[in-house]
Amino acid sequence: AIVPVILSGGSGTRLWPISTRERPKQLLCLTAEETMLQLTARRASGPRFGAPIVVANAAHAQEIEDQLGEIGAAAQALVLEPMGRNTAPAIALAAVAAGGDATPLLVMPSDHVIADVPAFHAAIEAALPLVAEGWLVTFGIAPDSPETGYGWIKVGEEIAPGAHRVERFVEKPAREKAEAMLTDGSHAWNGGIFLFRADMYLGALGTHAPEMRVAAETAMSRARHEGKRVYPEAEAFAASPSESIDYAVMEKAAQVAVVPVAMGWSDVGSWDALHAISVRDENDNVAGPEVLMLETSGCLVRSDRARISMVGVKDLIVVASGEDILILPRGRSQEVKRLLEAMKRD
Ligand code: GDD
Ligand code: MG
Repeated sequence: AIVPVILSGGSGTRLWPISTRERPKQLLCLTAEETMLQLTARRASGPRFGAPIVVANAAHAQEIEDQLGEIGAAAQALVLEPMGRNTAPAIALAAVAAGGDATPLLVMPSDHVIADVPAFHAAIEAALPLVAEGWLVTFGIAPDSPETGYGWIKVGEEIAPGAHRVERFVEKPAREKAEAMLTDGSHAWNGGIFLFRADMYLGALGTHAPEMRVAAETAMSRARHEGKRVYPEAEAFAASPSESIDYAVMEKAAQVAVVPVAMGWSDVGSWDALHAISVRDENDNVAGPEVLMLETSGCLVRSDRARISMVGVKDLIVVASGEDILILPRGRSQEVKRLLEAMKRD
């Protein structure tokens, strides 16, 4: 079976004030009645998949178990990081937890929306023969804007039905480079979802980032186990460099393939992204029935307590949570990071 690996360790600060370190976006309901974590676990369930391995911050263990329990899912292991070391080491912990053998791992971030799950499953099937041969496979999304926050892939020759060699992998390019890649028609976005054998990932890590592999293996060999919970040893894991899989492995590894797929994918990375993918009313607003809006259009409004009423405004994002209220024009939600820096609270 394919073992889903769910990465649930980010802090999702660009969705402040709803998403916070204590309760990051993957544990919240943003696009549906279920949380992002629950949606992620559901999309990799069925006869092809084993029970998932979830890698997360130790502070969220109980919440994650509760949320998986609510949908009748249970992790085979909940690997609880003593500190964040970014995704390359987090995935290494999962690869060791899976046995470090030829088991295929489907690595999924927990902050994505995928509207067409059958298309996702078909892409996984297309990838499996290459995965068995040892390739590291990622899924490619047709780009529609010069995104600097994604990885970009130069799509090479077809090496198996529906799968192409990755000619070049460019993580988080500068604006001009992204614009060039958008217009030349031969690039895809990296969807951030990976499929590879646990042994092949650890092998690539050993070649390109050996300290990370040693840190993860040592931390796991000295791990404390409490039922399904696995606590890698802090001292060994702390010695790992902090780097994403994209920089540490995907940009460097030799046998990297991409399966292009149209599956209604989006990264729910900002309030603007959430407005774009949510169901909007006839005035292009996204808001609950409790929000009173007169002559208001293009707004996203969310509040957990305060009653919000608006008249005569357009294209605003208004989010109230606890003691905090965020107001900004649509199109500038990446700047939430600036606000948090200015507050020194992030
Ligand atoms: N367990 C764990 N530990 N999870 C982590 C950690 C960590 O230290 N750091 C990040 N994550 C989780 C996040 O919660 C998220 O679910 C996932 O790993 C990816 O991290 P992001 O921080 O959201 O990455 P990104 O969006 O900047 O970039 C990645 O995704 C893009 C597509 O959404 C890259 O893979 C890009 O190449 C890709 O285009
Ligand atoms: Mg992301």
